[in-house]
Amino acid sequence: MKKLVERLVRDKRLDASDMGELLKSATQDSNVLQLLRDYAVRTARQQFGLGIYIRGLIELSSFCRCNCLYCGLRRSNRTAERYRLTQEEVLECCKEGYRLGFRTLVLQGGEDGTHSDEWLETLICQMRSQYPDVAITLSLGERSETSYIRLKRAGANRYLLRHEAANKELYESLHPDGRGIEHRIACAEALKRADYQVGLGMMIGVKGQTIEHLVEDLALIERMQPQMVGIGPFLPHKATPLGNEPAGDLNLTLAIIAIVRIMLPTALIPSTTALASLTPRGRLEGILSGANVVMPNLSPSDVRAKYAIYENKASWGKEAAEGLSALENELNTIGYHIDWSRGDYHIE
Ligand code: 5AD
Ligand code: SF4
Repeated sequence: MKKLVERLVRDKRLDASDMGELLKSATQDSNVLQLLRDYAVRTARQQFGLGIYIRGLIELSSFCRCNCLYCGLRRSNRTAERYRLTQEEVLECCKEGYRLGFRTLVLQGGEDGTHSDEWLETLICQMRSQYPDVAITLSLGERSETSYIRLKRAGANRYLLRHEAANKELYESLHPDGRGIEHRIACAEALKRADYQVGLGMMIGVKGQTIEHLVEDLALIERMQPQMVGIGPFLPHKATPLGNEPAGDLNLTLAIIAIVRIMLPTALIPSTTALASLTPRGRLEGILSGANVVMPNLSPSDVRAKYAIYENKASWGKEAAEGLSALENELNTIGYHIDWSRGDYHIE
C-alpha cells in the first residue's frame, strides 16, 4: 500500500482500481490512513504553513425548493422552521463579521425562489462597496448562467456548489426531482467560465454510496480541478427519508480529505461543520488530514437553530463567529493559528 500512496503523491492521481484499493485499505489499516494523513499535512504545510483561513458563514434563507433526501431543509419537511433574512439583517451580519476580522463572507442558503437576481445583485453591490477588501463567496445552488454572470459582476468572487455525487444513479436516488448530475456539472462549468473560484464536494457515507462511487467523485474532482473542495460526513436528520441511517464514517472522511489534499495541493479545503458536529475533535482531525479552512457561523443568533440541514449541527462555541478566540486556542493545541488574510486561491 505504501507504493500506492507514494504513486498518488508523485502523480497526484491514481487509476480507479488503485484508488478503490487504497480507500478500502485506509479504512481497514490505521497505518495506511496515517501515512495518507502525514503526506496530506506535509503538503498543506508547504502551501499554507500553520495558518488556517476563516470564512464567516451567513445563512440567508432556510426556504428551499429542492427535496434532497438527506437534508432537513428539504421542501417536503413540514416541520422545518423557515426564515429569510432581510438585506438589512445580512448587512448587519457583514458589519459584525468585518469587525471580528473576517475577510471572506459566505452567503449560503437553500434554493429560495424569492432570491431574484435583482435582490442578490443589490445585496452584493452593497457588500462590495462597504467592504472592498472582503472576498464574497456565494453558496446558493443551481442558477442560470446569466444569473451567475450578473452576481459575479455585482462583486462576488467565489461559488460553492458541491456536486454531491458524481455517479448518475446515486445522484438521482438522492435528488429524485433534481435536474441530474449533468446539469449540476454544467452549472459548475458555467461558474468557471464566469471566472469564479469554484468549490465542489460531497458527503461521505450517505445511503447507497459505495467506495466505487467515491472513486468516481475523486475522478470528477481531478478532472474539474476545483479551487475549493467541501467534504464532510453524512449526518442523519430525523424528519427526512434518511433519518434512521447511520452517520458517515470518521476515518473514511479523513482519508478522502487527505487524498484530495494530495491530489490538489493548493486547494482550499474546509474542515467542515459536519465533521465538527460528528465528533468533538472532528475539526482538528480534519486539519490534521490536510484541511486548511474553517467556516464559523455568522448568522443572527435567533435563526441559527433553524438552519438545520442535519441534527445537532454545531453553530456555537468554536463554530460561532463570536468564538474565534476559542477557535484560536483550539488550533494552538496542535500548533496551528488563524490566518486573518482573505485566503484567495493561488497557484504556488
Ligand atoms: N449531512 C451532512 N451534510 C449535509 N448536507 C446537506 N444535508 C446534509 C446532511 N444530512 C450538505 C450537502 C450540501 C451542504 C449544504 O450540506 O452536501 O451541499
Ligand atoms: Fe436545499 Fe441544499 Fe438542503 Fe438540498 S441540501 S434541500 S438544496 S438546502
